[in-house]
Amino acid sequence: MKITIIGSGNVGLSCATLLAQQKLATQIILLDIKENISKGKSLDLAQMLPLLHSDTKVLGISNNEFDKTKNSDITIITSGYPRTPGMSRDELININAQIILSVTKQSIIFSPKTKFIIVSNPLDVMTYVSYIVSKIDASRIIGMGGILDSIRYRYFLSKELHCSPRDIHTVLLGTHGDYMIPLYRYTSVSGIPIHELISKEKNNVLIEKTKKGGEEIVNFLGTSSWLAPGASILQIVESIIKDSKRILSCSVFLNGEYNLSNICLGVPIVVGKNGIEKILELHLNKEEKLLLIQSANQVQNMICKLELLNEL
Ligand code: 2OP
Repeated sequence: MKITIIGSGNVGLSCATLLAQQKLATQIILLDIKENISKGKSLDLAQMLPLLHSDTKVLGISNNEFDKTKNSDITIITSGYPRTPGMSRDELININAQIILSVTKQSIIFSPKTKFIIVSNPLDVMTYVSYIVSKIDASRIIGMGGILDSIRYRYFLSKELHCSPRDIHTVLLGTHGDYMIPLYRYTSVSGIPIHELISKEKNNVLIEKTKKGGEEIVNFLGTSSWLAPGASILQIVESIIKDSKRILSCSVFLNGEYNLSNICLGVPIVVGKNGIEKILELHLNKEEKLLLIQSANQVQNMICKLELLNEL
């Protein structure tokens, strides 16, 4: 299994480290526009692997060496500018769209069968850009946002309930941003519906904390988080490689599902060897439907701001 990670920043390296540690890939390519960064970090990672009993081959390359990504089974795009304090994910839209356009185009030339995992922000819009540019089947393009948001929600819930976050299961809909929708009705702790453990009002406070979860870290560090995103990417990779058919909340291209079209948005999907094997359509109540429409409108407004759509 050959996995290319485009962007050797913190998220790229965190993901590469976990992939190598868990022996999920035979070969990992770290690609970055800053050649010294991808080469230096991949050497550091490769030299750690004997201690982890891992045979994974790690190679760092610059974006002039795209041919070395040839026949990647999975391509993870983390490149782009991260958020800085005071900045929303949405402000990155046109800068990052050009980057996603360029790396998607090049990846598909050398790896026509690859599956993409998009991580760059604003996530749903970048997933959409990658889909439009690559012209491949939507089942091969998965945006990683909802997994990260759901582990943050699980973390806040576990602190409130004094229970293990491992026992909490949830589903998220909507965008990876302020209009994300952690679903109270679809959350449980070891099978116990969450409404038996916490009031809706208290839960709403935790949802607000979850929405601000990424920003809280940006304010401390001056840049985006990387450990939780890296581990979240791994959930998708593992489910593809092992064909586990896990149900994960991811941003995907919608073509009529949830009455939405021509948009990428977070929904629960089944992930297997073919990428997106199924989009699950939940029976939403009135309130949830309304939240989903608001979330979709917000993403649609951002898509309208995409300058590159006029160039394609
Ligand atoms: C986050 O929420 C980077 O968008 C990412 O931390």
